[in-house]
Amino acid sequence: MSSRLAGQVAIVTGGARQIGFAIASRFAAEGASVVLAQRSRDEGEAAEAAIRTAGGEATALTCDVADEDSVAGMVGRTLDLYGRLDVLVNNAGTGVAEHITDLSWDDYRRVIDINVGGVLLGTKYAARQMKVSGRGGSIINISSIQGVLPLRQSAVYAGSKGAVNLITQQTAADLGCFGIRVNAIAPGYIDNEMMHSYHTLVSETPGAAISAARGSIVLGRLGTTDDIAGPALFLASSDSAYVTGTLMLVDGGSQTHGAIA
Ligand SMILES: NC(=O)c1ccc[n+]([C@@H]2O[C@H](COP(=O)([O-])OP(=O)(O)OC[C@H]3O[C@@H](n4cnc5c(N)ncnc54)[C@H](OP(=O)(O)O)[C@@H]3O)[C@@H](O)[C@H]2O)c1
Repeated sequence: MSSRLAGQVAIVTGGARQIGFAIASRFAAEGASVVLAQRSRDEGEAAEAAIRTAGGEATALTCDVADEDSVAGMVGRTLDLYGRLDVLVNNAGTGVAEHITDLSWDDYRRVIDINVGGVLLGTKYAARQMKVSGRGGSIINISSIQGVLPLRQSAVYAGSKGAVNLITQQTAADLGCFGIRVNAIAPGYIDNEMMHSYHTLVSETPGAAISAARGSIVLGRLGTTDDIAGPALFLASSDSAYVTGTLMLVDGGSQTHGAIA
């Protein structure tokens, strides 16, 4: 155990799985008490147990980030449990891959409510608390490389992440005077279910499409969930005390090749 976040309390939305779990586990290993907030009770409890078994402090809460009362409750219960809030990672997200001519308005509402609404609501309630505490804090939004370089059949998802990038800059401007920093991370191709299901939906040969994607990455490999945890730790810790309103691309250099797929 190291202690870069000793005594700090962090909420990670969608912290029970994949990228969120990697971030939550890293924060806990650095001494933070971590709240894992997602809809699935079972996944949350399993993730809480895994972090506790590794020697960390974690509590799983059920929360729907697209529901204002639920998000307010998530922050309130965190304060009841741990007495403070220092870091919020707005990680919970969802996707859709469909051609614009097949756009489903239900998919539009679901993706925008979770990816954009979830970031706005999480920021609203966490920032209120961080402002009142007088200690400031760090808010980290998990965006996507698709918010910078959209892939095919991604108008809604890419649009949602582009919005997250601008919301990051705008809320950083609103909150800097309270010592609250707001930054975003744009993961590239992370080798997990979300990335594979995207390629299965948009390509008849998903294996070949993923190989092509790998070939577009300067570092020559797909990313892992742990590749995102380190940058998140940097943005959560005082090492980034003079960093706000920024978008950190964590994509192995794929943007260097221009638009992909
Ligand atoms: N995988 C990639 O290649 C990639 C690349 C770039 C960016 N990203 C972004 O990284 C983030 C995490 O992606 P991932 O691949 O780890 O996704 P994932 O495996 O699908 O996990 C998403 C997490 O978010 C939670 N979640 C979804 N909707 C929610 C809601 N309404 N309220 C609360 N929690 C909710 C899920 O739990 P429940 O379903 O139980 O609620 C789950 O824990 C997302 O924002 C995604 O857009 C991923």
